[in-house]
Amino acid sequence: MDFTREEEAILRGEEGEGKRKAMELVTALGKIYGAEDLIDITSAHLSGASYKTIGDGGLKYLEDMVAGGAMVSVPSTLNPVGMDRGRWAEMHISPEFAEKQLRIIELYGSMGIKTTCSCTPYTGANVPTLGDHVAWAESSALSFVNSYIGARTNREGGPGALAAAILGKTANYGLHLDENRRPTVVIDADIDGSVFSYSLLGQAVGMAIGGGVPYFKGIDPCVEEAKTLSAAMAASGSVALWHAEGVTPEAGNHDISGLEVIHIGKDELEAAYSKLNTVDDVQLIALGCPHLTEKEMHDIATFLKGKRKVRDDVEIWFCTSAEVRERCPDDVRIMEEFGPVLADTCMVVAPIEGTFERTGTNSAKAGNYLPTLCSQKAMCRDFVKLMEVVM
Ligand code: F3S
Repeated sequence: MDFTREEEAILRGEEGEGKRKAMELVTALGKIYGAEDLIDITSAHLSGASYKTIGDGGLKYLEDMVAGGAMVSVPSTLNPVGMDRGRWAEMHISPEFAEKQLRIIELYGSMGIKTTCSCTPYTGANVPTLGDHVAWAESSALSFVNSYIGARTNREGGPGALAAAILGKTANYGLHLDENRRPTVVIDADIDGSVFSYSLLGQAVGMAIGGGVPYFKGIDPCVEEAKTLSAAMAASGSVALWHAEGVTPEAGNHDISGLEVIHIGKDELEAAYSKLNTVDDVQLIALGCPHLTEKEMHDIATFLKGKRKVRDDVEIWFCTSAEVRERCPDDVRIMEEFGPVLADTCMVVAPIEGTFERTGTNSAKAGNYLPTLCSQKAMCRDFVKLMEVVM
């Protein structure tokens, strides 16, 4: 790889141990993936924030980074953590878990990272623009900013994104390069246009193609639909970039003639639904994967207003960011009659296993991860149908 003088000095440790370690990691990734040089980034978004997912090993890694003087050099945000900082007892979290989780947040904060702890930072705390090179972890968020905004990031892991944030640079390969942003398959989508149909569409596409860069015809997603589509394809497959004809900023840049066309319609959506639904009753209904936007909070509150939850044996959690919760006090008041509006956490990165065995969601991403990462049997339905379980 070609390095500038400044980068060579960092590699020699002249700017401290934290930066040297970060440079080593970024260059190791660059060599694996054939990067010729490093590229400046404008922001980072980091995963690996829950004590449940990183454990004591991750906590020790962060302690070492902070001790080595690591500081981020570009605006950086953090993914959801394992609990609501103020309401962890309502989530059946132990004091031991809470203590370690709070320490993890503190460590990230001391490196200059905004501890907003949301998987939808692109709605407020961290908003890239078209053509920005960024280093984002969190598969749903990075797919959203690659696709709907037209920023450029690879599918970073937590340590890689942290290293890039410290350097303000990442290795220049993969989705940073024009040639890798070309569509690889055309998806002829036939869906009813509800948010849930976008979740099932993403599930079906991930099941059909695994990876690659799908080019959609026949959809016109708003922000909420694009976020659920991104999340679903990143979980059922490994899609990190998609285009939608007439919608996403780079869709018009590409010639799609000659590409394979896959039709996704009623049969494929039914197959996706069957894969995600393995149980008929639940103990927890968790909404907000990815985190609820202000619009979704308002839609949920509007639906719930004047209704009553009749089942005490089923908990409902609404997951969003602290910023969104703060901005929607009237909606929160209505929603809290049904269950807590939890900030900066979610049903997947919280340690729900041990408390619950069967969980309902309206998100295909959560529908994939609840069984594999949380030992849950999952129900994945449209929001209104989920609410029928408790009303
Ligand atoms: Fe966000 Fe958790 Fe889903 S991090 S995308 S709500 S699994």
